[in-house]
Amino acid sequence: MADLEGLKVAKNYYLDTPFQNSNGFYVKGANALDWGMKKHLSRIFDAKSGNTVMLAFDHGYFMGSTSGLERLDIEIPKLIPNVDVLMATRGGLRDCIDPALIGNKGIALRATSGSSMLDEDLSHEILAVDAQEAVKMNADCIAIQTFIGGDGQLSSLENLSKAVNMAQQYSIPVLGVVAVGKQMERTPKFFKLATRILAELGANIVKTYNCENFEEVVAACPVPIVVAGGKKIPERDALQLAYDVISKGANGVDMGRNIFQSLHPFEMSAAVRKIVHEGATAEEAYAFYEDAIHPVQ
Ligand code: R5P
Repeated sequence: MADLEGLKVAKNYYLDTPFQNSNGFYVKGANALDWGMKKHLSRIFDAKSGNTVMLAFDHGYFMGSTSGLERLDIEIPKLIPNVDVLMATRGGLRDCIDPALIGNKGIALRATSGSSMLDEDLSHEILAVDAQEAVKMNADCIAIQTFIGGDGQLSSLENLSKAVNMAQQYSIPVLGVVAVGKQMERTPKFFKLATRILAELGANIVKTYNCENFEEVVAACPVPIVVAGGKKIPERDALQLAYDVISKGANGVDMGRNIFQSLHPFEMSAAVRKIVHEGATAEEAYAFYEDAIHPVQ
């Protein structure tokens, strides 16, 4: 292990230089992957924009029905046309979503669990889904929560490593999720540390949060980054968040509450899509949202 004394804070992120190992396949860091992996990734990331809109509705795995999503069976199906990937638990998907509605959308299967919002420390999880189950769910990636700097760091990185070993055998990509919690910081330094650790341990996609100097987080992470929405904020602000991270190099959003807790989730998801896939600014996307919820008579 390297000597930690006298670390350079930053050398050069080469922000103006594109990712170099990109001859052949359009998803960052995926050149050396096999056909099956690339097929799954191409279901997640649009070949034209290179980006993805993931709809996260896996919150029930530790929040039950208290996340503002009381009825998956009613709220989710109508949003499917506007998103590329459904991020959910196997129970949420199997019980509530008719597979005929999913069509060619991707599935990001939440594969860790073990805590509830009643716990003081949420950082202790287990790997709860095996490879056969992921194959049976037609998962395009499996999502593994990690707690860098948290009490459960070791076990969560063990979960990630086991998931990568297992998923490699079936050519299923792994989505490494950076958790933030009471014990974890939300600084650029933390996100640079956590995202890079996850990628180097084999995650093919990393989900994290926006922060100052986010473009440096993206530059130093050799796989695509998707950004969580976080707690509900006004629609205009959530669209600004989506715009900011896409313009700084994120390859998509993995947004939950800022879509499904909106008073107009269908229109909000369509507005997010405008930014992620069509290059709209936050202003343009918000104008689209306003027009959609107040149509001219
Ligand atoms: C929460 O535990 C999950 O990881 C969510 O998928 C994630 O937080 C994204 O959802 P939101 O945009 O609501 O934060």
